[in-house]
Amino acid sequence: MCADGVAGRLAELLADRPTLHLGADGAPVSFAVSDRVLHFIDQHLTPGTTTAETGAGLSTIVFAMHGAHHTAITNKQDETERIEAYCAPRGIDLSDVTFIVGDSADVFPNAGLSGLQMVLIDGRHAFPSPFLDWYYLSRAMVVGGLLIVDDTQLWTARALRDFLLEQPGWQHEAELSPQSSCFRLTARIDHLAEWTSQPYVFRQSSRQARASRPSRHRSRR
Ligand SMILES: C[S@@+](CC[C@H](N)C(=O)[O-])C[C@H]1O[C@@H](n2cnc3c(N)ncnc32)[C@H](O)[C@@H]1O
Repeated sequence: MCADGVAGRLAELLADRPTLHLGADGAPVSFAVSDRVLHFIDQHLTPGTTTAETGAGLSTIVFAMHGAHHTAITNKQDETERIEAYCAPRGIDLSDVTFIVGDSADVFPNAGLSGLQMVLIDGRHAFPSPFLDWYYLSRAMVVGGLLIVDDTQLWTARALRDFLLEQPGWQHEAELSPQSSCFRLTARIDHLAEWTSQPYVFRQSSRQARASRPSRHRSRR
């Protein structure tokens, strides 16, 4: 698909705003990321990029429009069916999109993800899901890859954002909206490192706890 074609399809998608989710009352609704996030994804994808997200919806369709080798993990089968129903008549090819239906925490250990160049965390927002999603998705990312954390107006996603803002190995790339942050992985990270190598966790911990543990970060306070 040529660049104009993708731009046209994104504009059409934003105009259509298909309701791909179900609200608490069972009525169709869209819980999509903001247009800015969709545009950002659109601008940073090239065909064949390897990507993944927790949750599914408009974002999944934008990944598909670019021919990304994309994995979308959602615990709701009906969403995948609505995405397919929207894409089929419009010729949006989902053949490189893999839907994995299940709770992300259950799915990740056997999902076989690797080589991820762009990742969107926008699944379950309750504790501890965004942290688990980050743990597994970032382990599967390539150095240089982009990670988008959505819904930072919620404490869980905001804590993840605040952690990453200080964490070595992550570079803050952009605030995409008041509730979406993007980071670039700049170095292979040790996910099993202790809290003393996590500046945000160290700083947020009590003075007594900090005093009891030697840390290279203590000198900052
Ligand atoms: C905010 S919506 C995602 C919106 C989507 N990014 C878009 O742009 O339309 C949240 C998504 O998380 C999914 N979800 C909720 N709990 C989940 C879980 N435990 N594991 C995986 N996905 C989950 C929902 O089914 C829904 O697709």
